[in-house]
Amino acid sequence: MGRVAGKIALVTGAASGLGQGAAEALAREGATVEVTDINREGGEAVVNKLGGASVFMLLDTRDEEQWKSVIAAAVKRFGRLDILVNNAGVPTAELIEETSLERWRSVMAINLDGVFLGVKYGMDAMKKTGGGSIINISSVAGLIGTARTATYSASKAGVKLLSKCAALECAELKYNIRVNSVHPGIIETPMASKVFEVLGQGDPAAGKKYLVDMHPIGRMGQIEDVANGILYLASDESSFVTGAELVIDGGLTAH
Ligand SMILES: NC(=O)c1ccc[n+]([C@@H]2O[C@H](COP(=O)([O-])OP(=O)(O)OC[C@H]3O[C@@H](n4cnc5c(N)ncnc54)[C@H](O)[C@@H]3O)[C@@H](O)[C@H]2O)c1
Repeated sequence: MGRVAGKIALVTGAASGLGQGAAEALAREGATVEVTDINREGGEAVVNKLGGASVFMLLDTRDEEQWKSVIAAAVKRFGRLDILVNNAGVPTAELIEETSLERWRSVMAINLDGVFLGVKYGMDAMKKTGGGSIINISSVAGLIGTARTATYSASKAGVKLLSKCAALECAELKYNIRVNSVHPGIIETPMASKVFEVLGQGDPAAGKKYLVDMHPIGRMGQIEDVANGILYLASDESSFVTGAELVIDGGLTAH
């Protein structure tokens, strides 16, 4: 019996990296997954790997109208929504002095507005169909500050508190919806590869070493490390867990 057998899940940014890993883990454990992304080709390739009744839907998480139609289509097709993983996000690595307001707003639109819209419309669907679990992907950057990550960190800290507020609202309103945030350390995904380049100033190996050394456990995280945490929060094993921060970072923020 799968850990999320029979459940209906929607994952954003699921064409790559952590979103793909979450979609694969959820499908392996028995869920039907709505794989969503702005990258149609990548998303459809993930669906082909998953098999079963899983489907791809184009969803730019910044777009409120798309959220409404994608969630409505999921509920129409499968009857309900049990699990929502708000994963889509983009990294930044630049000084505040070099960050334009336009850039700040464009990052917030994906990393924070997109999660807000997911929570809003996810809650609306779940409350009508018996409840569910919303999992918002933040970061260690939402817990501690570092130079050159102000925009990213502010967006991810926003995700952390948005999640707690949503958890408390859902509890107060008796929606039977749990909301939690996940805080990965540096995980080896396509996003991290871009960071190796920037940190190593053109020498990706040096950038990677710097990141490995940041983790007391002596390695960077793997996609499965985060997928396992998402699976736990998605399953009924975590039925008493809401408003929590699940930190998956090899000890990076334990100091
Ligand atoms: N990789 C890490 O080390 C790490 C660490 C902590 C947190 N995170 C967070 O995990 C999440 C996934 O990161 P990843 O490393 O898998 O990145 P990734 O770049 O591998 O994948 C991100 C996916 O999001 C999609 N996407 C981008 N903008 C979108 C939009 N507007 N609407 C819908 N989809 C969009 C991309 O097409 C891509 O498929 C992000 O929120 C990121 O901030 C990553």
